[in-house]
Amino acid sequence: MANEGRIALVIGGSRGIGRAICLRLARSGFDIWLTYKSNHQAAAEVKGAVEGIGRSCDLLAFDVADYEQTREALESKADKRAPDVYVYNTGIARDNLMVWLTKEEWDSVLATNLNGFYNVTHMVLFPMLREKRGRIVVVSSVSGQIGQAGQVNYSASKAGLIGAARALAKEVGKKNLYVNVVAPGIIETEMTNDLPRDQIRPLIPLGRFGSTEEVASVVDFLCTEEQMYVHGQVIGVNGGLTV
Ligand SMILES: NC(=O)c1ccc[n+]([C@@H]2O[C@H](COP(=O)([O-])OP(=O)(O)OC[C@H]3O[C@@H](n4cnc5c(N)ncnc54)[C@H](OP(=O)(O)O)[C@@H]3O)[C@@H](O)[C@H]2O)c1
Repeated sequence: MANEGRIALVIGGSRGIGRAICLRLARSGFDIWLTYKSNHQAAAEVKGAVEGIGRSCDLLAFDVADYEQTREALESKADKRAPDVYVYNTGIARDNLMVWLTKEEWDSVLATNLNGFYNVTHMVLFPMLREKRGRIVVVSSVSGQIGQAGQVNYSASKAGLIGAARALAKEVGKKNLYVNVVAPGIIETEMTNDLPRDQIRPLIPLGRFGSTEEVASVVDFLCTEEQMYVHGQVIGVNGGLTV
């Protein structure tokens, strides 16, 4: 397998889209470093599934919003062996209309979705630059591209990730580090369980929600394609929602 012996660091890999990314990259031959916050059972289940594919899976539990926890979990590990692929997938939503949006709802979403990206990237970027090759994929959202009512905090964090990834692409492209963003639309996960499906489906040109595997396949392409001239781009995986 072309990617045998390579490592993919998947931030937020225990559930939903992150779980599908771990399994897809494992099938492409990567050993996985799976990070999550606290759902040990879900993480252990993904580890078992990755091992079932024949790859190894290291579990790392820490809060990406906490710089010290992130440093402790990743700094020396990444320094000893840089990941070949790094996917920043962690994200939370705390939806509310702006007039009622609490300081805690704003701060917690920005801390996890955007500050977390700084915290993790700060630990892994230098080792990845040293290798002079690698792939970084950031999972944003359609909300970060077009904005979503009730999600001023979430949309800001996801738009921030797009800006950060584009700037990073300009910094590290010449070091053979590819940086791209995947922006999912509405995907079948716990995050979208409570949405009013019958009202939303007609707004999607494909007429259905996406699957986690359909996001993972795009991430996999960005992480594995050898004929690669895609860099600094935002790839929508949204069934045409932004058309
Ligand atoms: N679902 C959608 O329709 C949709 C649409 C557009 C974009 N997205 C984006 O896609 C990504 C994945 O979404 P999802 O629905 O699959 O999410 P999910 O099922 O809620 O999983 C989130 C993952 O992130 C981890 N996590 C959450 N907060 C964390 C923290 N503070 N520190 C460390 N890890 C943390 C979780 O760990 P635990 O298991 O320990 O909690 C879990 O592994 C997110 O960035 C989301 O914003 C999703």
